[in-house]
Amino acid sequence: MYPVPVAGSCEFLVTSGSTMAAVEVARQMSEGARNLSLSGHVGFDSMPDQLVNKSVCQGFCFNILCVGETGLGKSTLMDTLFNTRFEGDPAAHNQPGVHIKSNNYELQESNVRLKLSIVNSVGFGDQINKEESYKSIVEFIDAQFEAYLQEELKIKRTLHSYHDSRIHACLYFIAPTGHSLKSLDLVTMKKLDSKVNIIPIIAKADSISKNELQKFKIKIMSELVSNGVQIYQFPTDDETVAEINGTMNAHLPFAVVGSTEEIKIGNKMMKARQYPWGTVQVENENHCDFVKLREMLIRVNMEDLREQTHARHYELYRRCKLEEMGFKDTDPDNKPFSLQETYEAKRNEFLGELQKKEEEMRQMFVMRVKEKESELKEAEKELHDKFDRLKKLHQDEKKKLEDKKKSLDDEINAFKQRKTAAELLQSQAQQSGSQQTLKREKERKNFF
Ligand code: GTP
Ligand code: MG
Repeated sequence: MYPVPVAGSCEFLVTSGSTMAAVEVARQMSEGARNLSLSGHVGFDSMPDQLVNKSVCQGFCFNILCVGETGLGKSTLMDTLFNTRFEGDPAAHNQPGVHIKSNNYELQESNVRLKLSIVNSVGFGDQINKEESYKSIVEFIDAQFEAYLQEELKIKRTLHSYHDSRIHACLYFIAPTGHSLKSLDLVTMKKLDSKVNIIPIIAKADSISKNELQKFKIKIMSELVSNGVQIYQFPTDDETVAEINGTMNAHLPFAVVGSTEEIKIGNKMMKARQYPWGTVQVENENHCDFVKLREMLIRVNMEDLREQTHARHYELYRRCKLEEMGFKDTDPDNKPFSLQETYEAKRNEFLGELQKKEEEMRQMFVMRVKEKESELKEAEKELHDKFDRLKKLHQDEKKKLEDKKKSLDDEINAFKQRKTAAELLQSQAQQSGSQQTLKREKERKNFF
């Protein structure tokens, strides 16, 4: 057991691991210190026990991602590996794309508690166009890294109680074709290899003959190498497991058979698949590599997988993300550049840009106001001109009307005068008419 510093913190996260690594940490810590011998027992030799107790108390978490085409035996293998029954019904495979389904379980073995997440890529390989099949898997893995990074960057972090959902191992199920890897397999593994520990396995290995299996394994490994796909290598730097891990690396990819069915063989109940011609024993190393996988994945390297996820894959994600955000460890002259300095530089850069933008906006505002002002002045002038024109027009019209009125009044007066004169003439005529009538009447009377 040895402590691993949690990124960005001076705390230590308890993890199990090699004594070699513990010695290395101790050596680094003691560099530059004086060596003293103790004259009696002090008690710090109980440190490893304290760490074991603490981690047992906290429990562990392990997240497995299963990637492989429909019906390759993913669920069956998980049930067989953990000796339990996880999922219920098989997922529907008529969806337009791949979607990720994650299930969390709490398991206990002796007094050790394990929070296990089994993540499935439902519908993988079901589509006619498989070009984008890897995308949702990559996005899911990145989303878990992002969630961890966000927790890490918080002021008030709760990493000790944080549910770490980062994927520690990706079991990549290869169809037992006996030929070569499909391009879907190569593309997906290539996209995933810098993000997760890939352990390739040949699924349903009972459907391929012994000779064909050896050739198939060699073919797969050579295809992975020639396409530059990095798969997880069981670590050989810890001498306690170097031998077994070295041997197991040569057996990759493991050819596995899964079954939850128990059959009586001799006087023992064993997990097996029974066929009309015989029985395939899941835990018989002559029949398949199931035991090798279980040993390597769970019993020997579970902690290394967790550690690699944190130290390699998450570290890469974190570095790229922080660089994307503009953080650097060194300045352009390759001199150390602290986070504080980066922050200050970014802040100044941001403030400078803000000021520039403000100035631009202010100038733009002044320009627009001036433009508007001149537009308004122009409009005002136009209005004045129009008003003057209309006023003049109105005055002319008024004058014309007045003239017309005056001439009409004159006409009326003249008419009235003519009328009065005519009336006078008419009455005079009437008067002289009646006098003449009287005179004639008188003359007629005189005549008779
Ligand atoms: P989906 O979740 O639908 O993608 O399927 P899956 O990959 O989880 O496969 P599942 O475990 O549901 O198994 C599908 C079928 O394959 C079942 O009938 C299993 O009994 C059978 N099967 C599982 N493992 C093996 C195996 O190792 N060999 C053989 N021959 N059949 C297997
Ligand atoms: Mg399934």
